[in-house]
Amino acid sequence: MSFSVAGEAYGRFMGRFSEPLALEFVEAAGIRPGQHVVDVGCGPGALTAVLVDLLGADAVVGIDPSPTFVDSARERLPGVTIVQGSAEFLPIPDQSVDAALAQLVVHFMADPVTGLREMARVTRPGGTLAACVWDNNPGGGGPLTPFWDAAQSVDRAATGETHLPGTTPGDLGRLFRAADLTPTQDTTITVRVEFATFEDWWEPYTLGVGPAGDYVGGLDDETRDAVRAACRQALGPGPFHLDATAWFVSAVR
Ligand SMILES: C[S@@+](CC[C@H](N)C(=O)[O-])C[C@H]1O[C@@H](n2cnc3c(N)ncnc32)[C@H](O)[C@@H]1O
Repeated sequence: MSFSVAGEAYGRFMGRFSEPLALEFVEAAGIRPGQHVVDVGCGPGALTAVLVDLLGADAVVGIDPSPTFVDSARERLPGVTIVQGSAEFLPIPDQSVDAALAQLVVHFMADPVTGLREMARVTRPGGTLAACVWDNNPGGGGPLTPFWDAAQSVDRAATGETHLPGTTPGDLGRLFRAADLTPTQDTTITVRVEFATFEDWWEPYTLGVGPAGDYVGGLDDETRDAVRAACRQALGPGPFHLDATAWFVSAVR
């Protein structure tokens, strides 16, 4: 999985969606000043930055397995504790935070149920667990849906991201229940992102970020051109906007 890219590349590819999503996610999770929060799978810090604005640098810990993203988050947010680690083995004590949040991470965990259980372990009783993942359902509303729909129309080897846990309807709630967490909210969040030109949208797909970046990077020139042409046919030359929808689930510890 290509999360060993520079934070800047991530920002251009996915940060353009995850930055606005973070504002909505924090609101939906009910995070309030005075709380201490861990951002699990913080990446280069899209959600971490929103939490720091709301809670202060001392009240936020970010954790991510990617060394390049850890470096980017530390550079972006001086004074915030950013630790290299994974959801499945969170390097913080039991019941040490008021809330554990994971934005666009559960579907990349090696073991999502263990990761959610770990998030519960580090959260105080009565605290908040919340996660969101993109809607990867075929024909659904995720930011990658136009890309994978177009790729699959010209390349039968394009696997898409539907198989990732939590990304089809009801599956994130199922993972919470499998981790012995009863969802108190099981809903969606949608953010709108504007693109001035098709090229603005396409070019970050060539930066090697995540499964889609891995896929594009592995294509021969002819197939990559065919995928690009199918995307352009579907989206047009621009300007256009995409409404990107994430599944959102929260629970009380
Ligand atoms: C799509 S990015 C989301 C980053 C950030 N939360 C955001 O919203 O922009 C997925 C992140 O999950 C991290 N990740 C992958 N496997 C993980 C795991 N097992 N535990 C925690 N984070 C993980 C990746 O390194 C990457 O930073």
